[in-house]
Amino acid sequence: MTEASGPRPLYDDIGDSYATTRRPDSRVAAWIHTALGDAHRVLNVGAGAGSYEPTDRQVVAVEPSTVMLAQRPAQAAPAVRAVAAALPFPDGTFDAAMAVLTMHHWPDQRAGVAELRRVASRVVMLTFDTGFVPWIASDYLPAIIGQDQFIFPPIDDAAAWLDADIKVVPVPRDCTDGFMGAYWARPELYLDPHRRAGMSAVRKLDPSVVEEGMEQLKTDLDSGAWDAKWGHLRSLDELDIGYRLLVTR
Ligand SMILES: C[S@@+](CC[C@H](N)C(=O)[O-])C[C@H]1O[C@@H](n2cnc3c(N)ncnc32)[C@H](O)[C@@H]1O
Repeated sequence: MTEASGPRPLYDDIGDSYATTRRPDSRVAAWIHTALGDAHRVLNVGAGAGSYEPTDRQVVAVEPSTVMLAQRPAQAAPAVRAVAAALPFPDGTFDAAMAVLTMHHWPDQRAGVAELRRVASRVVMLTFDTGFVPWIASDYLPAIIGQDQFIFPPIDDAAAWLDADIKVVPVPRDCTDGFMGAYWARPELYLDPHRRAGMSAVRKLDPSVVEEGMEQLKTDLDSGAWDAKWGHLRSLDELDIGYRLLVTR
């Protein structure tokens, strides 16, 4: 039995508005596409609505959530409903496998990584180094810190599983992909419940905890306390807040 036929996928519950706030960012895409090298046959695991899938290669997507699959554009690559730990492909089917901001959702991460390596000669994964704690977590939603440390593997462990190099992916100030750390220079955007709905780390918290944190953020923005502490970030073009690309050697 595959995991897809097991418990209801998380993103069937939280993925409803994903494609509206999680639009792929062209600068992040460039990192991923460069790392794919000359790979022609590409597998995208945990593909969601299709963000970051190259359009100049032969791509197949794997995704367990029907809610996410339904958000794939009509012209997107063909998709299979499956999970990372049981990829329905023979060994070496692909030149490269990519997995973008998905590994932390996998129930068996090592099995998933082994599967990616089995079906592809190169693996490219975008993930997060929990050694970094963005201000939105440290100052306003501290419950995220323990949650992240529980679900993300230590970055050196993940790199060792893959035999991968670790590359820093700086996040642009105007990043179009509204992942958890994306609004590091635009604090006002965290106050928008629609934008927060696209962040799984927030969706997993008790809503009253989120409400309290956002009330404090609003108070600090109104009083100038946020700018006094973090306002220097507003003038930066990009920032390393812990996003990392793992690329097999
Ligand atoms: C944050 S979204 C990222 C989607 C896409 N890669 C992107 O960059 O927009 C995480 C995705 O991982 C998928 N996912 C969760 N568990 C998975 C598993 N065990 N195997 C493969 N994908 C999984 C979710 O359904 C969701 O679509």
